Amino acid sequence: MNPSREQQILQLIRRRYSHMAATGNFLPDARNRALACGYKHSQLDLLPDRILNGFSGCGSPLNFADVRNAQTIIDIGCGVGIDSCLLSIDFGRDRHVIAFDVTEELVALTSRTKKELGLEGLRIVCGDMHQIPIGPDSVDLIIANAAINLSFDKASLLAEFFRILKPGGQICASDLIPGDTVLDELPIDPMGANTSLGQVIPEDELKGLFGNAGFRNWQVIAYRKFDPVTAIDFRVKK
Ligand SMILES: C[S@@+](CC[C@H](N)C(=O)[O-])C[C@H]1O[C@@H](n2cnc3c(N)ncnc32)[C@H](O)[C@@H]1O
Repeated sequence: MNPSREQQILQLIRRRYSHMAATGNFLPDARNRALACGYKHSQLDLLPDRILNGFSGCGSPLNFADVRNAQTIIDIGCGVGIDSCLLSIDFGRDRHVIAFDVTEELVALTSRTKKELGLEGLRIVCGDMHQIPIGPDSVDLIIANAAINLSFDKASLLAEFFRILKPGGQICASDLIPGDTVLDELPIDPMGANTSLGQVIPEDELKGLFGNAGFRNWQVIAYRKFDPVTAIDFRVKK
């Protein structure tokens, strides 16, 4: 049987990120990209260069996430685990931080960092964000840094986020929406010519999908130019 469109996209995504993780060939100039996204030098200095080099985010959701009462936090599409490791460094063993990603090689890198930094409160899970192996109403905060844009079925993804969040729980995300340039290649290349932009949708559509999934209090924190698209920082509540 031929793989479905969804399976094909997921295969492409995994192949792309596996290759990056295996070769260490991540996007260049990670520290400056992270600083432009809002991370502070003091945060980045806490991480080994090996990990920092793998930064593939489009924002810094920890800067606008209210973590005060969050006992359990999941970092969806955590990549090399920058946000989850920073959270876990902060919280020690007191709270649960889950680093979640579909790419085994990236998850393996995060496991290595967990050992190196002694992050006992960090749990690392490999899987597809459309089917998260976590019970309902179990998470206080979802962090997603350049991950929602990669979803090939955002309605199912947001239903899944709604399922795992506790009532009153929050999503704090940095994501991508189209910029001024029309990206002609996107409809034919789901990976957007290797730039992971194939599943990017306009803000109104994204906001509508969150509303349809039952989320409320859509709040945009900031927009940033993220050529050839736009980065958006937002939060919503269950
Ligand atoms: C653009 S990278 C962002 C990584 C990380 N959040 C960061 O800020 O560096 C997107 C990540 O999402 C992961 N990903 C893509 N599709 C996924 C899926 N269906 N389920 C879980 N993770 C996924 C990729 O493996 C990749 O690590």
